[in-house]
Amino acid sequence: MKVENDNRKITILWGITGSVGSVNIPNYLSEIMSKLNCQIITIMTKASQNFLSPYIVELITGRSVYRDMFLSIDGVKVPHIDLTKKADVFIVAPASANSLGKAANGVCDDLLSTSFIAYNNSIIFAPNMNEKMWNNKIVQSNVEKLKSFGHIIIEPGEGIAISDGKANRGAMPGTEKILHIIRDYLEHRSLDQ
Ligand SMILES: Cc1cc2nc3c(=O)[nH]c(=O)nc-3n(C[C@H](O)[C@H](O)[C@H](O)COP(=O)(O)O)c2cc1C
Repeated sequence: MKVENDNRKITILWGITGSVGSVNIPNYLSEIMSKLNCQIITIMTKASQNFLSPYIVELITGRSVYRDMFLSIDGVKVPHIDLTKKADVFIVAPASANSLGKAANGVCDDLLSTSFIAYNNSIIFAPNMNEKMWNNKIVQSNVEKLKSFGHIIIEPGEGIAISDGKANRGAMPGTEKILHIIRDYLEHRSLDQ
């Protein structure tokens, strides 16, 4: 899928990981694209593709989904370098426990985690997982570490866990909240420049 880069628009680099909340990401992408003058470039982890078809993401964003570090597509030769260079904002939603751990500890074994290291700005993470996972000390310590490096963590809210249908703290924030945080990030970034 070849779509020209539109330099007038804000470029959002959006990482999608293997959290169950990724099933709702098409709604987030279309709503944010309708409210913000932006182009959204997506990176999907292997695990996320069990929950969400890259085809749907391509239909909504009008762009190829990047999922392989060693694949050059649409003239993007080295995706982790080229995509992060283009990004005005880098968001990971949903962010799995695994990807938070990789980001906090510098593990770069796939395209998304390597992009974390190639991006020298704050990344916005929207963690999404079962409450037991969220409360795990290792996850909490990784979250604190990410905050200490200047990354932005959107605290998960209350939702219904898919595993047992019970109330659960670990749900994705709503689109409005994500949009608000992206706008806020862009505003402060331009003030810094
Ligand atoms: C049905 C199912 C639901 C899952 N939901 C979540 C989740 O909501 N959050 C999470 O952190 N991991 C979840 N996992 C586990 C992740 O998919 C797994 O840790 C994976 O390695 C994450 O890889 P990634 O970070 O590269 O996407 C789930 C696994 C399964 C089988």
